[in-house]
This record gives sequence, structure tokens and C-alpha cells, in this order.
Amino acid sequence: MVAISDIRRNIASVKNLGSGLVAVFVGGTSGIGLSTAREFARYATAPHIYLIGRNEVQASEIISELRSINDAATVDFIKSDVSLLKNVDVACQELLKKETKVDLLFLSAGILTMKGRTETIEGIDRKLSLHYYSRIRFIQNLLPTLNQAAAASPGSFARVISVLGAGHEGKLVDGDKDLDLQKNYSLSNAANHSITMTSLSMIQLAAANPRISFIHSAPGGVNTNFAREFHPLTKYLFNALFFVLSPFNSVIGLVPLQDCGERHVYLATNPAFAPRGGDKVETLGADGEKGSGAYRLGPATSIVSHSSLLQGYLDSGMGKKVWEHTVEMFKKATGTA
Ligand SMILES: NC(=O)c1ccc[n+]([C@@H]2O[C@H](COP(=O)([O-])OP(=O)(O)OC[C@H]3O[C@@H](n4cnc5c(N)ncnc54)[C@H](OP(=O)(O)O)[C@@H]3O)[C@@H](O)[C@H]2O)c1
Repeated sequence: MVAISDIRRNIASVKNLGSGLVAVFVGGTSGIGLSTAREFARYATAPHIYLIGRNEVQASEIISELRSINDAATVDFIKSDVSLLKNVDVACQELLKKETKVDLLFLSAGILTMKGRTETIEGIDRKLSLHYYSRIRFIQNLLPTLNQAAAASPGSFARVISVLGAGHEGKLVDGDKDLDLQKNYSLSNAANHSITMTSLSMIQLAAANPRISFIHSAPGGVNTNFAREFHPLTKYLFNALFFVLSPFNSVIGLVPLQDCGERHVYLATNPAFAPRGGDKVETLGADGEKGSGAYRLGPATSIVSHSSLLQGYLDSGMGKKVWEHTVEMFKKATGTA
């Protein structure tokens, strides 16, 4: 756990990482992504920030806000519904036309919904796509630019952060037979699969890309626009509850939005989460994935402790199976692995 006062003291030195850092926020038009983009803009020197989402109106307001925070920042918006993997590819192509390096890929596009399996035209459940497949597709497409950022020196820090549920990994129902939950869909299975597959894939990715850090974060409860898909009345009650509880945030463990953004800038830049050269990836140490460049972080920037469930999956080769399944899904949806 790191105190917020230490986080704030620490991120003041982000300016020393040099000018022109490139940061891509998929889900940067609201909530945790926006808060992190805002704090990144505050501390980085002349950064180039990309926001990816659907809400153009919101994006143009954010662009003005970020420029007023840091007039040397360049901020661009790429409009895309990233629940479709083909759209992810198009958004990445747009990025790749402009950038040869990406220092930070921040993935937080997501939805809270009580609906059952809802397939996109690519045949993937929308929630599973947003929380897992689409994020991994962004990583895969942008790996060359992340590696390029890692090669640049000094002060390079190439990192990927996916905001989901590290530490809440659960059983993969039916082993590797129904990873995309065609047969066994339920909200809890969808949560378990997206979270567990994220942790396993990040360990695979860290092994193959030893100069990049892969961070799976569970920020704790944060009052965002997360209930956007709920009935307006439910959404109102949700927001009212957060408002009433706000004086007791620290007691009940709710994280103020700004703190959440600051904590993620710390994860994105602090040497404590540097890549470790990809060694020891098959064994999780007592401190979780500390031996590799894959990290699982819980609320208050605490490393999630050893997981016997994940270790069991790694020992039985499930990480590799999840990766092969993911590539197969990419092939089906986009025509390319
Ligand atoms: N808030 C919490 O307490 C909490 C706790 C743990 C984990 N998380 C995780 O954190 C992530 C972010 O949540 P949040 O609280 O920041 O929510 P939020 O305020 O609702 O923000 C979600 C973001 O996702 C984008 N998005 C949603 N569907 C999209 C789509 N089809 N295409 C492109 N962008 C899309 C939205 O952009 P547009 O509206 O522009 O499309 C928005 O920028 C979620 O995955 C959630 O599981 C949240």
C-alpha cells in the first residue's frame, strides 16, 4: 500500500521522464481513464495524449480541459466503438500512421450491465469483448510501438495498464473448452473469465515482451459514470448513494476519482513497476508476479498477493491455452491473427 501523499510527491517527478511521452487512453472520455489522462496531462512534459471512445461531445470538452491544464500537451480524439475488434484495428491503424512509439497504453473502456450474453456482429459477448478481447487486441496491435518506446532512452517506461479486477480471478468454467462462454454465460462467469484471462494473458505477454510492463489493476470502488447503461432511476439511486457515502469514503473503501487517476499515473511511471526482463514468468513469487514484468495491483496501490488459482493455471499450461484461444478469436472476428 502506498499513501496518497507519497503518490503525489512521487508523480511530481514525471516531468523528468522527458518531453513528448505518448499515452493512449482507450476509455479516456470518462471515469478512471479520464481521471488518469487528466493527471498525466498535469505532470508530463509536452505529452501527446490520445483519447479513444465514442462520445465526441465529451471528448471535445476534455480536449479543451486538458489543454488548459497543460498548454504544451497535444490531445487527439479517435472516435471508435471498440467492442468490435475490426474497429480496434482501424483505430490502431490511425494511431500507427501518426506515432512510431507509444509509452503508455491505458485500457479502461468498459460497461456495467445486468444483461445476459449480448453478441456483437463478430459473435463475441459485448462485455467480454470490451473487458478482455478488445483490450488484448489493442495491446497486440501496438506492441511494436511499445517496444519502440522501450528502446528509446533515457527514461523510457513502456507500460500497459488494464483496469479491471486483479485479485478477483475466478474459475474458468469448463477449463479451456468454453473460454468465450458460448454455452455457460452468466454475469459471474463473464467477470471471472475476463479477469482471469487478463491476468494469464498479461503473464504471457510479459514473457514475450521483456521490455514492457503489463499491469492489471483493480482500483476499488470509484464513483464514475459506470452505471451509464442502467435504467435512469437505478442510475440516479446509484449516484445518490455515492453522494451520501462520500464523507465516509475512506471508512468504506471508496476511492476519490482524482486519487484513482493519480495512483494510475504512479503505476504508469514509477520504477517499482518496471519490466523485469521476462524471467521467472512461469512461477509467481510470494509477491504475485513480481519476478516478471506482469503485475497485479489492488486498491491503494497494493500488490495482490500470491494466487494459488493462477499458479495452478500456469502450472497446467492454461496461460498458453488462453493465449491460443484469444488469437483464434481474433482470427474469426477480423480475419487476421
Ligand atoms: N468504477 C469502479 O468502481 C470500477 C471498479 C473496478 C473496476 N472498474 C473497471 O474500470 C473500467 C472503467 O470504468 P469507469 O468506472 O471508468 O467507467 P465509465 O466512467 O463508465 O467509463 C467507461 C469508458 O469506457 C468507454 N466505453 C464504453 N463502451 C465503449 C465502447 N463500446 N467503445 C468505446 N469506448 C467505450 C466510455 O467511452 P464513451 O462513452 O466515449 O464510449 C468511457 O470512456 C471498467 O472496465 C470497469 O470494469 C471500475
